[in-house]
Amino acid sequence: MSLSNPSDIEKLLTSSVCTEKGETYKFIMPWLGEGLLTSSGKKWQKRRKMITPAFHFKILEDFLVIFNEQANILVEILREDFLNGEEKDICEYVTRCTLDIIGETAMDRRIDSQRNKDTPYVMAVTKACEIMLHRATRPLLWPYFVFSLTPSGREYQKSLKILHDFTTMVIKERKKSQLAEAHAKASEVVTNIETDEIYWHGKRRLAFLDLLLDAQKNPENELTDTDIREEVDTFMFEGHDTTAASLNWTIFLLGCNQHCQAKVHEELDRIFGDDRSRHVTTKDLAEMKYLELCIKEALRLYPSVPFLARYLNSDLTLDKDIVIPAGVNVCLMSMSIHRNETIYPEPEAFIPERFLPENCANRHPFAYIPFSAGPRNCIGQKFAMMEEKVVLAQLFRNYKVEAAERREDVAVMIEVVTRPRDGLKIRLSPR
Ligand code: HEM
Repeated sequence: MSLSNPSDIEKLLTSSVCTEKGETYKFIMPWLGEGLLTSSGKKWQKRRKMITPAFHFKILEDFLVIFNEQANILVEILREDFLNGEEKDICEYVTRCTLDIIGETAMDRRIDSQRNKDTPYVMAVTKACEIMLHRATRPLLWPYFVFSLTPSGREYQKSLKILHDFTTMVIKERKKSQLAEAHAKASEVVTNIETDEIYWHGKRRLAFLDLLLDAQKNPENELTDTDIREEVDTFMFEGHDTTAASLNWTIFLLGCNQHCQAKVHEELDRIFGDDRSRHVTTKDLAEMKYLELCIKEALRLYPSVPFLARYLNSDLTLDKDIVIPAGVNVCLMSMSIHRNETIYPEPEAFIPERFLPENCANRHPFAYIPFSAGPRNCIGQKFAMMEEKVVLAQLFRNYKVEAAERREDVAVMIEVVTRPRDGLKIRLSPR
């Protein structure tokens, strides 16, 4: 069953007994195992507590340089590929940029997919996502045994092997290099996030993987190498496709709504003047207020994660004393929740100003759930917002974007993420 009333959604998402994910997540488990996204109960609780410090704002600040470097590579590649006002799909460019960003932040590994599209890891990510959807939409393939005997099941296994071998290899290498550093006494590890101190190994910036490897040193955490791989795979998956989808829709919608884009340009010019290349700083991010409204509005219309599902372990009482019995899978379709006309007048229109503080004040907080909410909300939402602002700022400082097709002609696919069936065609002109 599915819920649409914000106060019922609140009851579901804030309930401490409804944290188990629904049936649909089983399609992703062969890849992610029981990482943070898919695990439940005590295992999830312990992991969430352990991983939360990895998203401390001081650690995120350290990633700014990676966001900037990769965004600048994107800007340069677009300059080469969108010559003479040619119209092209932007999605694959942005997706490779976010994959490179998550590769470096999660594992400190340069995947370099922006410059080199044909690396086995990148191809395996694409293939695994495609096959997962193929399986999810064909009930005959739901039993894993049956699926594994089909050509797509075998192809999926092949892709998973590449994905798992890659992360296993990165973890092994990282462990070795940490050990070498420890021997050289170059590492000083401070792990007390409650007192606002952060993790450092000498002067090297830390990837999420380092934080997990540090956590592994504490036997109480009972963290095996496979557990670490599951978490790294989860970051790699959950951290790139979602962010790419959000960026793609924001770029396209700004290309369709030139009056909003003009405000973005104005804001960026106020912050950066004529400078087209200097790195975006934390202070700049705080000043990109209108850009943030645009990202939020794009996530309202096209939430990257189109639906959420929970399996009820016990009865859930909704408004008017309606009870959903234990054992039911409850679904939340974010895209329709976000287009409720009584909450969002002119629901189909792109109006970033809806998210001005004064316009949100009377809106139910659970009427907008692109990052979910409650105890199982998105752990990476601040990371995503920072990354998106940097990438969009670099793009719009350098280009004017024009949508090369009408929004109503774009076929939308509700897959693992919300994506356009045939990409999003735009034209770029230098500023
Ligand atoms: C615009 C970008 C993003 C969107 C819209 C988004 C959305 C979401 C949503 C809706 C959930 C809840 C899923 C559910 O309940 O089934 C979620 C969970 C999660 N997200 Fe994100 N996400 C984004 C970016 C990221 C990034 C960048 C990372 C990591 C670097 C990340 C890591 C995770 C993890 C680990 C979970 C599971 C949390 C838990 O269950 O405790 N996400 N995300």
